[in-house]
Amino acid sequence: MFTMRENHQRFLDSLKYQFLCCYPLHCIDWEAIPDNLTWEQQQQLVENTVLYALNQKYPVKISYQLNFLKRLLQHLERRYDEVHDSVYECYCAVQQRIAQDTTEKYAYKHYFQPALKVELTLRESKSFVAEGTTGLCSWQASIALADYLVENTHIVKEKCVLELGAGTGLCGMILVRCCGVRHILLTDGSRECVDLMKENVCRNFTEANETSDGLFVVNQSTLSLNKLEWGAIEDMKWPDSFAADVILAADVVYDDTVFESLTHAIDYVFKIRKDKCEMLLAATVRNEHTLQTFLNSLSQLHFRYVERDVIPLDKCNFYWDRTTPVKIFNITR
Ligand SMILES: C[S@@+](CC[C@H](N)C(=O)[O-])C[C@H]1O[C@@H](n2cnc3c(N)ncnc32)[C@H](O)[C@@H]1O
Repeated sequence: MFTMRENHQRFLDSLKYQFLCCYPLHCIDWEAIPDNLTWEQQQQLVENTVLYALNQKYPVKISYQLNFLKRLLQHLERRYDEVHDSVYECYCAVQQRIAQDTTEKYAYKHYFQPALKVELTLRESKSFVAEGTTGLCSWQASIALADYLVENTHIVKEKCVLELGAGTGLCGMILVRCCGVRHILLTDGSRECVDLMKENVCRNFTEANETSDGLFVVNQSTLSLNKLEWGAIEDMKWPDSFAADVILAADVVYDDTVFESLTHAIDYVFKIRKDKCEMLLAATVRNEHTLQTFLNSLSQLHFRYVERDVIPLDKCNFYWDRTTPVKIFNITR
């Protein structure tokens, strides 16, 4: 049993982590705002979110901050006779920054899980598509995959892990922080994604030693970054002594025009490993037919796939949008 004070702290912490990663507003449980907040505790709601030091230094999207405050005000006004001035002041201050922010193409997101020592700050595109790629922002499938792997660390622990279409590199960075991977190679076909990954790796792993271009040693793990276009995987220059035990991919099954090159890349890695590897694929199911077409093309190449359970909301380590279902498959041959 938790005391009232502890319950309040737990609520504040979860609201803070949800705000910092821009958890969609419709996913936040606003009804969980306690009815008995003191005056000071109302103030803590903004001190731990919009006014939080990390958000001041590396701000999340301003429009998200404004809409967050709007929803917070609605809920507080409904339940309390008086709402703390700091919430209104904060709302006005953020509103003034909206106009100047419209020209900004990037904002920050922060992925926190203190129990796992994960505190990652990523600069990400504010648009889903930018610079001709969808990979400059993190998608829910990559967080769902990381969530699954931190609960099943044996899959990646002390292994060589290759991620295809890694985008911002969020999933891989979480694995480096808390899954004891031996070597993780994060790849993407977009040069902009690889450059952004490098920037984000440098910001978050200040203890890392960059031994050669795009290859970082972080404690016991190696993290490397490479441009890899699936259709040209034969030209890939693999890092020394890297042989993939596990292939990861998140949210890469949405466009059937790339299925041929994607299955080619998967087939290629399995072949060079003589099928002594496995793959974890996290797919956001926007269209069942598209996903099934992809799975059928894997079957034609003699792969087997088994669906695994995603981590349920009440046991999750990271917040991710569940509005559209995410499925995780284990693929072997
Ligand atoms: C929807 S994003 C997912 C990014 C990341 N995995 C995530 O879930 O946040 C798809 C990614 O696949 C990459 N991609 C698409 N086609 C590719 C190809 N032919 N070769 C390599 N990467 C590709 C894109 O650049 C993009 O980063």
